[in-house]
Amino acid sequence: MNIEDLFGVPVSRTNNLIEVVGASQHANQQQTNEAFSEKWHKLEGRQGIEEAYAFQQEWYLKLYGFETEENLATFLRSKKTILDAGCGLGYKAAWFARLAPESIVIGMDFSESVYQAAVDYADLKNLFFVRGDIADTKLNAGSIAYVSCDQVIMHTEVPEKTFAHLSSLLPTGGEFACYVYAKKALPRELLDDYFRKSVYGLTHEQIWEMSEQLTELGKRLSELDVKFISPDIPLLGIKGGEYDIQRFIYWNFIKCFWNPRFTDEVNNATNFDWYSPSNAKRFSEAEFQQMISDNTLQTTFFHREEACYSGRFAR
Ligand SMILES: C[S@@+](CC[C@H](N)C(=O)[O-])C[C@H]1O[C@@H](n2cnc3c(N)ncnc32)[C@H](O)[C@@H]1O
Repeated sequence: MNIEDLFGVPVSRTNNLIEVVGASQHANQQQTNEAFSEKWHKLEGRQGIEEAYAFQQEWYLKLYGFETEENLATFLRSKKTILDAGCGLGYKAAWFARLAPESIVIGMDFSESVYQAAVDYADLKNLFFVRGDIADTKLNAGSIAYVSCDQVIMHTEVPEKTFAHLSSLLPTGGEFACYVYAKKALPRELLDDYFRKSVYGLTHEQIWEMSEQLTELGKRLSELDVKFISPDIPLLGIKGGEYDIQRFIYWNFIKCFWNPRFTDEVNNATNFDWYSPSNAKRFSEAEFQQMISDNTLQTTFFHREEACYSGRFAR
């Protein structure tokens, strides 16, 4: 099978790279693409990135119900065409391509990260990168046996439309793995919404500076090592129970990410990733379930945690 045959429009390919679109005509999507291009340029090749990839791979298995990497490999080998929709620097697409060497794997992203990914993974002959919009991939309906859209769909212009488009790529028996951000407590949602609008008035430098400050805040709060019991405050969406003080502030008021497993650069990039894109919708579980049923998909695995909902949905 030729990679070009999967597309419904003529595409031109240079080695492992295809460009389907350049800029977005939607201002928020374009701003989001620029924010991610900035993040990936800053992070690419940096110290500690391999540790972040390893963390992400472990989390991927949990988010989508694969008990082990071998379990994921067996699944991927049964899918002859695989799309990593919103692949960033392409390490998950490369992971899939290594685990399923007989399958064709496509990593698609709207940011400039695909140019770097195409260079970094040029040795994987079953892996291709596409600069394109995952809301309108130009791939043929029914052409992709496994679509993975991990930590991406809420950054697209209209996530519900993107979900419908990606679902339409599945043949009968195909599966769609998807993740959405969960809605959080009211103070945190209000602050996050404020940033979605105010990013237009801020430079990337200002958001990097704030990201560093937030990493430092997360670190200092974690180091306090204080636990307490919060009351339930239902009107604010604050759930009662025992919390570490950093987690309490993080979930209910402000994202101040810090994980001692990561370098400062990876921690800062995680905070930047949250505060810089104007498109970053959050969902209730009912809203996510609605998208799944609207597209007549069957849930094969469902996962919920404080930050997100995720699962695998079959056609
Ligand atoms: C949080 S990152 C996740 C990257 C990767 N999936 C991972 O798990 O590491 C979100 C990615 O989605 C991409 N993205 C956002 N909107 C997109 C769109 N409409 N089409 C393609 N990619 C998009 C961004 O450029 C960014 O690389």
